Amino acid sequence: MAIPRSVEWKEDSIKILNQQLIPNSVEFLTLETIEDVWDAIKTLKVRGAPAIGIAAAFGLALAGSKFEGEDLQEFHTHIREKSLYLASSRPTAVNLTWALHRLQNKIEHAASVNEAKTNLVHEAILISVEDENICYNIGQHALSLFNKNDSVMTICNAGSIATAYYGTALAPFHLAAEVDFPIHVFACETRPLLQGARLTTWELLQSGVNVTLITDSMAAHTMKKKKVDAVIVGADRISANGDTANKIGTYGLAILAKQHGIPFYVAAPLSTFDISLKNGDEIPIEERKEEEILKVGHEWVAPKNTSVYNPAFDVTPAELISGIITEQGIIHGTEFDKIPDLFTTKSL
Ligand code: MRU
Repeated sequence: MAIPRSVEWKEDSIKILNQQLIPNSVEFLTLETIEDVWDAIKTLKVRGAPAIGIAAAFGLALAGSKFEGEDLQEFHTHIREKSLYLASSRPTAVNLTWALHRLQNKIEHAASVNEAKTNLVHEAILISVEDENICYNIGQHALSLFNKNDSVMTICNAGSIATAYYGTALAPFHLAAEVDFPIHVFACETRPLLQGARLTTWELLQSGVNVTLITDSMAAHTMKKKKVDAVIVGADRISANGDTANKIGTYGLAILAKQHGIPFYVAAPLSTFDISLKNGDEIPIEERKEEEILKVGHEWVAPKNTSVYNPAFDVTPAELISGIITEQGIIHGTEFDKIPDLFTTKSL
Protein backbone atom coordinates (compact mmCIF):
# COMPACT_ATOMS: atom_id res chain seq x y z
CA MET A 1 0.00 0.00 0.00
CA ALA A 2 1.53 3.33 -1.05
CA ILE A 3 -0.93 5.95 0.13
CA PRO A 4 0.60 9.11 1.63
CA ARG A 5 0.25 9.63 5.37
CA SER A 6 -2.34 12.19 6.41
CA VAL A 7 -0.56 13.63 9.48
CA GLU A 8 3.10 13.56 10.53
CA TRP A 9 5.04 15.12 13.42
CA LYS A 10 8.09 17.11 12.25
CA GLU A 11 9.63 18.36 15.53
CA ASP A 12 8.67 22.06 15.22
CA SER A 13 5.74 21.68 12.80
CA ILE A 14 3.12 19.21 11.56
CA LYS A 15 2.98 17.95 8.00
CA ILE A 16 -0.48 17.18 6.66
CA LEU A 17 -1.81 15.94 3.37
CA ASN A 18 -4.19 18.64 2.10
CA GLN A 19 -7.34 16.55 1.65
CA GLN A 20 -9.23 19.51 0.16
CA LEU A 21 -7.20 19.21 -3.05
CA ILE A 22 -7.47 15.47 -3.69
CA PRO A 23 -7.86 14.03 -6.33
CA ASN A 24 -6.76 17.03 -8.40
CA SER A 25 -3.42 17.39 -6.68
CA VAL A 26 -1.51 15.69 -3.92
CA GLU A 27 0.00 18.46 -1.82
CA PHE A 28 1.25 18.71 1.72
CA LEU A 29 0.94 21.61 4.15
CA THR A 30 3.20 22.59 7.01
CA LEU A 31 1.27 23.65 10.11
CA GLU A 32 3.41 25.82 12.37
CA THR A 33 0.91 27.22 14.86
CA ILE A 34 -2.04 25.92 16.81
CA GLU A 35 -4.25 28.29 14.77
CA ASP A 36 -3.04 26.53 11.60
CA VAL A 37 -4.06 23.21 13.15
CA TRP A 38 -7.51 24.52 14.20
CA ASP A 39 -8.11 25.86 10.69
CA ALA A 40 -6.92 22.64 8.99
CA ILE A 41 -9.38 20.61 11.09
CA LYS A 42 -12.26 23.07 10.64
CA THR A 43 -11.84 23.30 6.87
CA LEU A 44 -11.36 19.53 6.42
CA LYS A 45 -7.80 19.77 5.14
CA VAL A 46 -7.31 17.03 7.70
CA ARG A 47 -10.47 15.02 8.40
CA GLY A 48 -11.81 11.67 9.56
CA ALA A 49 -12.23 11.03 13.28
CA PRO A 50 -8.89 9.31 14.09
CA ALA A 51 -6.85 11.72 11.90
CA ILE A 52 -8.54 14.69 13.58
CA GLY A 53 -7.55 13.23 16.97
CA ILE A 54 -3.94 12.76 15.85
CA ALA A 55 -3.74 16.26 14.34
CA ALA A 56 -5.16 17.77 17.54
CA ALA A 57 -2.68 15.79 19.68
CA PHE A 58 0.23 17.03 17.56
CA GLY A 59 -1.27 20.55 17.70
CA LEU A 60 -1.33 20.48 21.50
CA ALA A 61 2.23 19.11 21.61
CA LEU A 62 3.25 21.98 19.31
CA ALA A 63 1.53 24.51 21.58
CA GLY A 64 3.38 22.96 24.53
CA SER A 65 6.76 23.11 22.83
CA LYS A 66 6.26 26.83 22.07
CA PHE A 67 5.53 27.73 25.70
CA GLU A 68 8.18 30.00 27.20
CA GLY A 69 8.88 29.89 30.92
CA GLU A 70 9.46 27.40 33.74
CA ASP A 71 6.26 27.78 35.79
CA LEU A 72 4.47 24.42 35.75
CA GLN A 73 1.10 25.84 36.87
CA GLU A 74 1.18 28.39 34.06
CA PHE A 75 2.07 25.60 31.64
CA HIS A 76 -0.95 23.55 32.77
CA THR A 77 -3.24 26.58 32.32
CA HIS A 78 -1.77 27.20 28.86
CA ILE A 79 -2.36 23.57 27.84
CA ARG A 80 -5.92 23.56 29.19
CA GLU A 81 -6.75 26.71 27.22
CA LYS A 82 -5.17 25.40 24.02
CA SER A 83 -7.04 22.10 24.46
CA LEU A 84 -10.38 23.88 24.69
CA TYR A 85 -9.49 25.92 21.63
CA LEU A 86 -8.60 22.84 19.55
CA ALA A 87 -11.70 20.99 20.80
CA SER A 88 -13.86 23.83 19.45
CA SER A 89 -12.83 23.09 15.84
CA ARG A 90 -15.32 20.24 15.22
CA PRO A 91 -17.89 18.84 17.67
CA THR A 92 -18.93 15.35 16.53
CA ALA A 93 -15.80 13.17 16.34
CA VAL A 94 -15.03 12.21 19.93
CA ASN A 95 -11.49 11.18 18.97
CA LEU A 96 -10.63 14.88 19.08
CA THR A 97 -11.39 15.38 22.79
CA TRP A 98 -10.29 11.81 23.57
CA ALA A 99 -6.78 12.58 22.24
CA LEU A 100 -6.62 15.97 24.00
CA HIS A 101 -7.63 14.41 27.35
CA ARG A 102 -5.09 11.67 26.90
CA LEU A 103 -2.32 14.24 26.46
CA GLN A 104 -3.49 16.29 29.45
CA ASN A 105 -3.57 13.17 31.66
CA LYS A 106 -0.01 12.39 30.61
CA ILE A 107 1.39 15.64 32.05
CA GLU A 108 -0.55 15.59 35.33
CA HIS A 109 2.47 14.37 37.33
CA ALA A 110 5.30 15.98 35.34
CA ALA A 111 7.97 17.47 37.59
CA SER A 112 9.00 20.29 35.24
CA VAL A 113 7.84 22.19 32.16
CA ASN A 114 10.49 20.44 30.10
CA GLU A 115 9.34 17.02 31.20
CA ALA A 116 5.72 17.97 30.43
CA LYS A 117 6.68 19.23 26.95
CA THR A 118 8.46 15.94 26.20
CA ASN A 119 5.53 13.90 27.55
CA LEU A 120 3.10 15.70 25.25
CA VAL A 121 5.19 15.00 22.16
CA HIS A 122 5.74 11.33 23.12
CA GLU A 123 2.06 10.75 23.83
CA ALA A 124 0.96 12.37 20.57
CA ILE A 125 3.40 10.21 18.58
CA LEU A 126 2.21 7.15 20.53
CA ILE A 127 -1.44 7.88 19.61
CA SER A 128 -0.44 7.97 15.95
CA VAL A 129 1.65 4.77 16.11
CA GLU A 130 -1.09 2.96 18.03
CA ASP A 131 -3.75 4.07 15.55
CA GLU A 132 -1.90 2.46 12.65
CA ASN A 133 -1.83 -0.90 14.51
CA ILE A 134 -5.44 -0.48 15.58
CA CYS A 135 -6.54 0.12 11.99
CA TYR A 136 -4.57 -2.88 10.75
CA ASN A 137 -6.36 -5.07 13.31
CA ILE A 138 -9.77 -3.57 12.44
CA GLY A 139 -9.00 -4.38 8.80
CA GLN A 140 -8.17 -8.01 9.59
CA HIS A 141 -11.32 -8.49 11.68
CA ALA A 142 -13.46 -6.83 9.01
CA LEU A 143 -11.95 -8.96 6.26
CA SER A 144 -13.03 -12.10 8.15
CA LEU A 145 -16.65 -11.04 7.47
CA PHE A 146 -16.27 -11.01 3.70
CA ASN A 147 -15.95 -13.67 1.02
CA LYS A 148 -13.94 -13.50 -2.20
CA ASN A 149 -15.81 -11.54 -4.89
CA ASP A 150 -18.16 -9.90 -2.39
CA SER A 151 -19.49 -6.49 -3.29
CA VAL A 152 -19.53 -4.03 -0.40
CA MET A 153 -21.00 -0.53 -0.16
CA THR A 154 -19.47 2.34 1.80
CA ILE A 155 -19.99 6.09 2.28
CA CYS A 156 -17.65 9.00 2.97
CA ASN A 157 -13.97 8.18 3.46
CA ALA A 158 -13.10 6.07 6.46
CA GLY A 159 -9.84 5.28 4.77
CA SER A 160 -6.12 5.46 5.34
CA ILE A 161 -6.03 9.25 5.06
CA ALA A 162 -8.77 9.52 7.71
CA THR A 163 -6.50 7.69 10.19
CA ALA A 164 -2.79 7.18 10.86
CA TYR A 165 -2.78 4.47 8.17
CA TYR A 166 -4.97 1.69 6.62
CA GLY A 167 -8.27 3.32 7.68
CA THR A 168 -11.23 1.71 9.42
CA ALA A 169 -14.03 0.86 6.96
CA LEU A 170 -11.58 0.83 4.04
CA ALA A 171 -8.86 -1.14 5.83
CA PRO A 172 -10.26 -4.57 4.82
CA PHE A 173 -10.20 -3.53 1.15
CA HIS A 174 -6.58 -2.37 1.29
CA LEU A 175 -5.58 -5.56 3.11
CA ALA A 176 -7.58 -7.76 0.72
CA ALA A 177 -5.80 -6.19 -2.25
CA GLU A 178 -2.43 -7.13 -0.72
CA VAL A 179 -3.35 -10.83 -0.50
CA ASP A 180 -5.15 -11.15 -3.82
CA PHE A 181 -8.61 -11.45 -2.26
CA PRO A 182 -10.93 -9.71 -4.74
CA ILE A 183 -13.65 -7.49 -3.26
CA HIS A 184 -15.67 -4.99 -5.23
CA VAL A 185 -16.62 -1.70 -3.56
CA PHE A 186 -19.57 0.60 -4.27
CA ALA A 187 -18.50 4.06 -3.04
CA CYS A 188 -21.30 6.58 -2.42
CA GLU A 189 -20.15 10.02 -3.56
CA THR A 190 -21.11 11.63 -0.20
CA ARG A 191 -22.77 14.98 -0.83
CA PRO A 192 -22.02 17.76 -0.15
CA LEU A 193 -18.23 17.59 0.17
CA LEU A 194 -17.77 14.43 -1.89
CA GLN A 195 -15.40 12.54 0.39
CA GLY A 196 -16.54 9.31 -1.30
CA ALA A 197 -16.04 10.56 -4.85
CA ARG A 198 -12.83 12.50 -4.22
CA LEU A 199 -11.06 10.50 -1.53
CA THR A 200 -12.36 6.92 -1.31
CA THR A 201 -12.08 6.26 -5.04
CA TRP A 202 -8.60 7.88 -5.10
CA GLU A 203 -7.43 5.71 -2.20
CA LEU A 204 -8.90 2.43 -3.41
CA LEU A 205 -7.69 2.84 -6.98
CA GLN A 206 -4.15 3.27 -5.65
CA SER A 207 -4.42 -0.08 -3.88
CA GLY A 208 -5.84 -1.72 -7.00
CA VAL A 209 -9.30 -2.24 -5.45
CA ASN A 210 -12.18 -2.59 -7.90
CA VAL A 211 -14.35 0.43 -6.99
CA THR A 212 -17.55 1.74 -8.59
CA LEU A 213 -18.73 5.26 -7.77
CA ILE A 214 -22.45 5.93 -7.33
CA THR A 215 -24.32 9.05 -6.22
CA ASP A 216 -25.90 8.82 -2.76
CA SER A 217 -29.37 8.70 -4.28
CA MET A 218 -28.47 5.54 -6.23
CA ALA A 219 -27.88 3.41 -3.13
CA ALA A 220 -31.40 1.92 -2.90
CA HIS A 221 -31.57 1.05 -6.58
CA THR A 222 -28.06 -0.41 -6.48
CA MET A 223 -28.96 -2.65 -3.53
CA LYS A 224 -32.04 -3.85 -5.40
CA LYS A 225 -30.47 -4.38 -8.80
CA LYS A 226 -26.86 -5.33 -8.12
CA LYS A 227 -25.20 -7.82 -5.80
CA VAL A 228 -24.45 -5.94 -2.56
CA ASP A 229 -23.28 -8.35 0.16
CA ALA A 230 -22.63 -5.86 2.96
CA VAL A 231 -22.38 -2.21 3.90
CA ILE A 232 -19.41 -0.99 5.96
CA VAL A 233 -18.97 2.54 7.29
CA GLY A 234 -16.77 4.42 9.76
CA ALA A 235 -17.89 6.31 12.85
CA ASP A 236 -17.33 9.66 14.55
CA ARG A 237 -18.89 8.78 17.89
CA ILE A 238 -20.60 5.68 19.29
CA SER A 239 -22.74 5.99 22.42
CA ALA A 240 -22.93 3.36 25.17
CA ASN A 241 -25.87 1.58 23.52
CA GLY A 242 -24.20 1.28 20.08
CA ASP A 243 -25.97 4.20 18.35
CA THR A 244 -23.44 5.53 15.84
CA ALA A 245 -22.83 9.01 14.44
CA ASN A 246 -21.16 9.02 11.04
CA LYS A 247 -21.25 11.07 7.84
CA ILE A 248 -24.66 12.32 6.76
CA GLY A 249 -26.31 9.62 4.64
CA THR A 250 -25.12 6.72 6.79
CA TYR A 251 -28.48 6.38 8.60
CA GLY A 252 -30.26 6.20 5.25
CA LEU A 253 -27.92 3.44 4.07
CA ALA A 254 -28.62 1.45 7.24
CA ILE A 255 -32.38 1.64 6.64
CA LEU A 256 -31.89 0.59 3.02
CA ALA A 257 -29.64 -2.29 4.08
CA LYS A 258 -32.33 -3.56 6.46
CA GLN A 259 -34.99 -3.37 3.74
CA HIS A 260 -32.77 -5.43 1.43
CA GLY A 261 -31.57 -7.94 4.06
CA ILE A 262 -27.96 -6.75 3.77
CA PRO A 263 -25.69 -6.74 6.88
CA PHE A 264 -24.64 -3.26 7.99
CA TYR A 265 -21.27 -2.94 9.76
CA VAL A 266 -19.55 -0.07 11.55
CA ALA A 267 -15.73 -0.16 11.72
CA ALA A 268 -14.21 2.00 14.46
CA PRO A 269 -11.49 2.04 17.10
CA LEU A 270 -12.42 1.96 20.79
CA SER A 271 -11.35 5.63 20.94
CA THR A 272 -14.52 6.45 18.95
CA PHE A 273 -16.82 5.17 21.72
CA ASP A 274 -18.21 7.71 24.15
CA ILE A 275 -19.79 5.65 26.89
CA SER A 276 -20.58 8.79 28.88
CA LEU A 277 -23.49 9.16 26.44
CA LYS A 278 -26.44 6.84 27.01
CA ASN A 279 -27.67 6.98 23.42
CA GLY A 280 -27.25 8.72 20.09
CA ASP A 281 -29.66 11.56 20.93
CA GLU A 282 -26.90 12.98 23.11
CA ILE A 283 -24.28 13.09 20.33
CA PRO A 284 -23.60 16.66 19.15
CA ILE A 285 -24.17 16.95 15.42
CA GLU A 286 -22.08 19.47 13.53
CA GLU A 287 -23.93 21.84 11.21
CA ARG A 288 -21.76 23.40 8.55
CA LYS A 289 -22.02 26.49 6.40
CA GLU A 290 -24.73 26.95 3.77
CA GLU A 291 -22.28 27.42 0.90
CA GLU A 292 -21.30 23.73 1.07
CA ILE A 293 -24.79 22.91 -0.21
CA LEU A 294 -25.37 25.94 -2.39
CA LYS A 295 -22.14 25.46 -4.33
CA VAL A 296 -20.36 22.55 -5.98
CA GLY A 297 -16.72 23.58 -5.97
CA HIS A 298 -16.80 27.26 -6.93
CA GLU A 299 -20.09 27.05 -8.87
CA TRP A 300 -23.44 28.06 -7.39
CA VAL A 301 -25.95 25.26 -7.95
CA ALA A 302 -28.87 26.98 -6.16
CA PRO A 303 -29.94 30.61 -5.77
CA LYS A 304 -27.60 32.32 -3.28
CA ASN A 305 -30.38 33.25 -0.85
CA THR A 306 -31.87 29.72 -0.62
CA SER A 307 -32.32 28.61 2.96
CA VAL A 308 -30.20 25.54 3.77
CA TYR A 309 -29.98 22.82 6.43
CA ASN A 310 -26.50 21.26 6.44
CA PRO A 311 -25.97 18.65 9.17
CA ALA A 312 -22.60 16.97 8.56
CA PHE A 313 -23.50 13.75 10.42
CA ASP A 314 -26.46 11.57 11.31
CA VAL A 315 -27.01 8.89 13.92
CA THR A 316 -27.73 5.29 12.99
CA PRO A 317 -29.74 3.53 15.71
CA ALA A 318 -28.03 0.48 17.20
CA GLU A 319 -30.83 -1.86 16.11
CA LEU A 320 -29.89 -1.30 12.45
CA ILE A 321 -26.23 -2.25 13.04
CA SER A 322 -25.23 -5.91 12.53
CA GLY A 323 -21.87 -5.45 14.24
CA ILE A 324 -19.21 -2.95 15.27
CA ILE A 325 -15.72 -3.97 14.20
CA THR A 326 -13.06 -2.77 16.65
CA GLU A 327 -9.36 -3.51 17.05
CA GLN A 328 -10.28 -6.09 19.70
CA GLY A 329 -12.77 -7.93 17.53
CA ILE A 330 -16.38 -7.73 16.41
CA ILE A 331 -19.16 -6.68 18.79
CA HIS A 332 -22.22 -8.32 17.30
CA GLY A 333 -25.56 -6.53 17.36
CA THR A 334 -26.84 -8.98 19.99
CA GLU A 335 -23.99 -7.99 22.36
CA PHE A 336 -24.27 -4.19 22.40
CA ASP A 337 -25.36 -4.26 26.06
CA LYS A 338 -21.76 -5.35 26.81
CA ILE A 339 -20.22 -2.19 25.27
CA PRO A 340 -19.69 -0.41 28.64
CA ASP A 341 -17.80 -3.49 29.98
CA LEU A 342 -15.13 -2.98 27.30
CA PHE A 343 -14.10 0.23 29.01
CA THR A 344 -13.86 -0.86 32.63
CA THR A 345 -10.12 -1.49 32.22
CA LYS A 346 -9.46 1.30 29.72
CA SER A 347 -7.61 4.37 30.99
CA LEU A 348 -9.47 7.21 29.30
O1 MRU B 1 -16.60 15.28 7.81
P1 MRU B 1 -15.58 14.18 7.74
O2 MRU B 1 -15.05 13.97 6.36
O3 MRU B 1 -14.50 14.35 8.78
O4 MRU B 1 -16.40 12.87 8.13
C1 MRU B 1 -15.70 11.67 8.26
C2 MRU B 1 -16.55 10.48 8.54
O5 MRU B 1 -17.75 10.57 8.69
C3 MRU B 1 -15.82 9.17 8.71
O6 MRU B 1 -16.63 8.11 8.30
C4 MRU B 1 -15.43 8.97 10.18
O7 MRU B 1 -14.81 10.11 10.70
C5 MRU B 1 -14.53 7.81 10.34
S1 MRU B 1 -12.94 8.05 9.62
C6 MRU B 1 -12.05 6.63 9.91
